[in-house]
Amino acid sequence: MTNSSSDRIVAALREWVATAPAGARLPSTRSLVARFEASPVTVQKALRTLIGQGIIESRPGVGTFVRAVRTARPHDYGWQTAALGAPPQRIPTASAALRAAPNDVIALHSGYPDKQLLPERLVRAAFTRVARSEAAVNRSPAAGLPDLQSWFAAELGEATPSGFAPPAASDVVILPGSQSGLSTLFRTLVGAGRPLLIESPSYWGAMLAAAQVGVQLVPIPSGVHGPNPDDLERAFAQTGARAFYAQPTFANPSGGQWSPELAERVLGIVRDHGAYLIEDDWAHDFGITNDPAPLAARDDGGHVVYIRSLTKSVSPAVRVAGLIARGPARDRILADTQAQAMYVSGALQAVALDVVTQPAWRTHVRSLRAQLTSRRDLLVGAMRDHAPAAHIEAVPRGGLNLWARLPDDTDLHRLVRDCEAEGVAIAAGDDWFPAEPTGRYLRLNYSGPNPGAFEEAARVIGAAIEAQ
Ligand SMILES: Cc1ncc(COP(=O)(O)O)c(C=O)c1O
Repeated sequence: MTNSSSDRIVAALREWVATAPAGARLPSTRSLVARFEASPVTVQKALRTLIGQGIIESRPGVGTFVRAVRTARPHDYGWQTAALGAPPQRIPTASAALRAAPNDVIALHSGYPDKQLLPERLVRAAFTRVARSEAAVNRSPAAGLPDLQSWFAAELGEATPSGFAPPAASDVVILPGSQSGLSTLFRTLVGAGRPLLIESPSYWGAMLAAAQVGVQLVPIPSGVHGPNPDDLERAFAQTGARAFYAQPTFANPSGGQWSPELAERVLGIVRDHGAYLIEDDWAHDFGITNDPAPLAARDDGGHVVYIRSLTKSVSPAVRVAGLIARGPARDRILADTQAQAMYVSGALQAVALDVVTQPAWRTHVRSLRAQLTSRRDLLVGAMRDHAPAAHIEAVPRGGLNLWARLPDDTDLHRLVRDCEAEGVAIAAGDDWFPAEPTGRYLRLNYSGPNPGAFEEAARVIGAAIEAQ
């Protein structure tokens, strides 16, 4: 949310309109410019906002007027209850991590990095170039722009050890962000009513997608060191599952990264069971002390289906991700994405490709690492000093989040409310558990705005824990 001068004018005019009779004429733009000491552009923007809200109306050549208030008639949508029936299973609502917070709140709850951490100059220049290119008016092929497919394939190819075949560009399907890819994968590789193994805790958006598709989640306990392979082996054997959704690199929320030995064990188990590993490499660009090491690079047998998003590292406005799958799975996945959306905007793909192929992109990713290091350390230090009861099991080696365990008797919802009342937005850990939470956790994101306020935020959290 912003507090621009146009917002200020909107607020003042709304107050004025509230006491004005219907049909009253608003002062001229010139007098509003003088009254609010704002530019004509800003005043026009505020008027457009109020017109959009249906509060005033413009009569060209005559002026701007307060609209007649229509009496609100309560709608009765009750008939829809019978028409829709009950959903086959309860669909969880989107996590509180997605909520917008006012400017003056210290936002540790969100999952998306602040603008400061984005390659803003590169993104703006790419949009300008793409606006002049054919990509702005052409339809993209269904699987994506061939050059962008090649870029995703080459990136994974660089990590591929000798002895394994690197992926081909034709193995890549471009998606409008990885969230929609998760739904596609759960539909095509698992299917409604069938089991999907998932780390616990894991990404809430994956659980949301699973609930929408109707797959049955089978939680596998996991943490900063990844899952116990014996648990995984047992779950595959008991449930007959065909897929395991996991984040081996800088998991959201725990920040954990699997060791190479665990990665090999898991790959072996997946192969033995004729199953898929759905590898969500969401934090590929957010290594801090460690580099990402995708498991997909060590599988050329089609067992690993790999998703790698650019949304968080290029720009949340450039929703583009690459999915790499081999064999018939790739064809089914492509058929599903076509049924859902036909193709991804070629203009957005071209912007993403422009950004990641600039030499400055690599420089940006390196400087991002330095910034994430200092933000992470600042928040870890502040939490240890001011909120020692929030136990940070492991300092994350990558990703954007701290995962802190609270005393077992913590009333999480009260804690979140108390912190918010003191101007600090935090995310209760419950949303990241596919079944009952096994402890009380907080997820604290260190990539939001204003890291200078982390100390203050930790003080507020510490005091709120004390007050429980
Ligand atoms: C683990 C994980 N996967 C996928 C996503 C969704 O990414 P996208 O923005 O590309 O849809 C997120 C976003 O928070 C995430 O944390």
